[in-house]
Amino acid sequence: MKPAEPSNLIVNGRRLRLTARDRRKDLLTFLREDLDLTGAKRGCGIGVCGACTVLANGRPLRACRTRVARVLGRSLTTIEGLAAPDGGLHPLQQAFIDAGGIQCGFCTPGMVLTAHAFLLRHPKPDRNEARRAIAANLCRCTGYQQIIDAIMAAAPSYRKKE
Ligand code: FES
Ligand code: FES
Repeated sequence: MKPAEPSNLIVNGRRLRLTARDRRKDLLTFLREDLDLTGAKRGCGIGVCGACTVLANGRPLRACRTRVARVLGRSLTTIEGLAAPDGGLHPLQQAFIDAGGIQCGFCTPGMVLTAHAFLLRHPKPDRNEARRAIAANLCRCTGYQQIIDAIMAAAPSYRKKE
């Protein structure tokens, strides 16, 4: 897909035309209230917990601390854009379920997208690398071991056929 024009935005593969009002909003509000993409959550609202994480050109970004104007011309992926078009879960999402890496689910969209960005660049991680990758995403209920288990279980699906 061609990149977004410098004044616009692509969200989950969809090109958006933005108004001046849109550009002034914080990205999390814009995603949740204007686009109805409610996967990204407002936890702390100050850039600390990672619940609002989305990807911008494949890099994790805290949507609560980002103005729409700052990401113009970029391609964003929210958790809604990770599943297949027919709704089939991405292997990483399935791994979180299989490993018991979800309880209340509040941190999960940000956790999964952070792990996804990591695995795209490090498809053969060890547990310590996986742990460091999600260190800035806070989970108050699952405990991190199952989340690391899920990342490790999904890693082979990120490797090119050898
Ligand atoms: S809600 Fe954005 S980092 Fe916590
Ligand atoms: S599953 Fe509840 S905060 Fe992580």
